[in-house]
Amino acid sequence: MSSNEIPLAQSFVLPCGLKLSNRIVKASMEEMLGNSDNQPNEYIYRLYQRWANVSFGLLLTGNVQVDDRYPGIMTDMMIPSKDKIDIEKWKKYADICQSHGTPTIVQINHAGRQSLSGKRPLLERAIAPSPVSLSFGNNPFVRTLQRLALGTPKEMTRAQIDETIEKFVEAAELMFKAGFAGVELHGSHGYLISSFLSPKTNRRQDEYGATPKDRIRFLLRIIDAIRAVVPSTFAVGVKLNSADYSTGGLTEDEAYDQIRWIDDHGGIDFIEISGGTYEAPAMAGSEDDRRSERTKKREAYFIEFAAKVRNTTKIPLIVTGGFRTREGMNDAIVSNACDFVGIARPVCIQFNLPQILLDPTIPDKDARALQYDIRGSSIFSLIPIPGSRSSCGIVWYNWQMQRVAIENREPDPTLSIHGKLLTVLFKKTKKIIPFFVLLCALWYASLLKEFILNFRMNK
Ligand SMILES: Cc1cc2nc3c(=O)[nH]c(=O)nc-3n(C[C@H](O)[C@H](O)[C@H](O)COP(=O)(O)O)c2cc1C
Repeated sequence: MSSNEIPLAQSFVLPCGLKLSNRIVKASMEEMLGNSDNQPNEYIYRLYQRWANVSFGLLLTGNVQVDDRYPGIMTDMMIPSKDKIDIEKWKKYADICQSHGTPTIVQINHAGRQSLSGKRPLLERAIAPSPVSLSFGNNPFVRTLQRLALGTPKEMTRAQIDETIEKFVEAAELMFKAGFAGVELHGSHGYLISSFLSPKTNRRQDEYGATPKDRIRFLLRIIDAIRAVVPSTFAVGVKLNSADYSTGGLTEDEAYDQIRWIDDHGGIDFIEISGGTYEAPAMAGSEDDRRSERTKKREAYFIEFAAKVRNTTKIPLIVTGGFRTREGMNDAIVSNACDFVGIARPVCIQFNLPQILLDPTIPDKDARALQYDIRGSSIFSLIPIPGSRSSCGIVWYNWQMQRVAIENREPDPTLSIHGKLLTVLFKKTKKIIPFFVLLCALWYASLLKEFILNFRMNK
């Protein structure tokens, strides 16, 4: 197969004029490499150096927070305000990512109700469209933990909505000044924008939530305000959920309508399709995969939804989640379900995967991501929180990124979760070991209680 015949190898120009040399996108992955100022550092430079020269068509950075009071976690990258930013650090980051000609887009985010902690007073709660707390099921231990760690978010006032829009705008403007090719608004996975879009988490009765169309107003205001300050050549994209995959959450029909409204509104250069929230992490694949054999063959978790969306929009589409083989990826492009394939987890283990996929001398059967099992991950299925196994998987991929970025070593697909977990616990958290032991004891007690209750009921 010559390179011209590999559909993945074809170039593409986004509406803003940005040319991408092929259809393979490195999808966003939170790197957890932030230190005290949460701005780019030597670790993140080293990591992106590895992705910069392996023939991706586009790099999307991990999510970068627009408000340091409400990040996902404290090691996230965060964009400070104009007067506090060290712009040289961001320029160096943009230069490294784009040093071999790969355009790089920064994913900008506000964690909303999924903000675990941030540069805010200890007892101050996170903010969200409505005061709806996260729910990880009915296990009493999990409910207690959830209350302690997250609590119920505060409903945003109109002034806070305006202020947050400004934060997104300032972040986009600064990323333009730093030399990045664009920004992607993180509108999926349950973070702030996504929680405005979902009927489960947006119960407002005002112009930001009273009707399904009102729920998209927050996102459209951000798009317009960013477009007003950046040149038309700067890419603005959005990552959206195809559905929340939880009771009462965003459905595929509603997500379809939202894409139609975004298309009517304009201002967007691409839409990346994903799904799920941290309460139901569909973006990492289902632990109980009930897709039809036909859909499984197409690999990507959200490909059927993308194919449907095609009928309603001309906005270029990226589909992320599940792609592992050249055949699967080519099929997605040739069938016109999407324009780009996003790849995340496999490229933490195999940085040169795009080169393999694009190499015409490698036959299709060998042009695929490495296959491996995450050692020790099966035990996490026993934790009574939906998606525990896939969430632990996410941590494992973070360790792989840290091996490369901090330890300057190669990724290790044989790394065992248990071994690494013990090392991390003993090295870094000696002081909290008694607390951790207490948590484990509480957890086992709650499991035991459920076991006894079930036993009695079955008797
Ligand atoms: C370690 C890790 C961190 C992630 N961080 C982000 C993130 O910051 N923003 C985002 O939109 N998705 C994030 N994701 C989800 C991925 O972008 C992607 O949607 C998901 O991993 C499915 O794609 P894959 O099957 O190619 O891995 C993350 C995934 C992993 C494994």
